[in-house]
Amino acid sequence: MKISIVYYSHSGNTRCLAEMIAAQTGGDLLEILPETPYPQAYSTVVEQAKRELKEGFRPALRTEVPDLAGYDAVLIGTPNWWSSPAPPVSAFLEGWDLTGKRAASFCTHGGGGAGHIQRDIERLCRSGEVLPGLAVYESSCGEGEVRRWLERIGMV
Ligand SMILES: Cc1cc2nc3c(=O)[nH]c(=O)nc-3n(C[C@H](O)[C@H](O)[C@H](O)COP(=O)(O)O)c2cc1C
Repeated sequence: MKISIVYYSHSGNTRCLAEMIAAQTGGDLLEILPETPYPQAYSTVVEQAKRELKEGFRPALRTEVPDLAGYDAVLIGTPNWWSSPAPPVSAFLEGWDLTGKRAASFCTHGGGGAGHIQRDIERLCRSGEVLPGLAVYESSCGEGEVRRWLERIGMV
């Protein structure tokens, strides 16, 4: 099975998880980069994200949406931002047609779990099948937890 792993990460936790998933599946890794990086200062990015999510803002992306022909499945990673996918991830997914692909999301969070990320990703993907997601606290993920999730959703 050929797997595409796409993710956005602001402070590195989701990147670390995405790399673990890529190592275990042999999937192709793609980082979603916005044209304008988000500020590093926590309180600034928190306020900006709140405003963007409220307005449904979609940032311009530096990362081009790849052709999915030849891929069977897509794993989509995001930090939990106000219980939602980060706006770059939503912008990316809106440019994709996932019809006929299997999809699942993974996220890292600061204690709030997946929030409504699963529901939002289902809506954005318009895919036939969105499998159960993985939610991990900050950078606490271990190889075993990733493995068990990948087995449960049939990716390894
Ligand atoms: C803008 C912003 C909003 C956040 N909102 C939440 C939240 O609603 N719930 C939560 O559990 N964590 C929240 N967090 C914490 C992040 O989800 C957590 O630190 C995550 O692991 C960051 O992933 P990253 O390092 O890949 O960017 C927020 C962080 C930021 C920067």
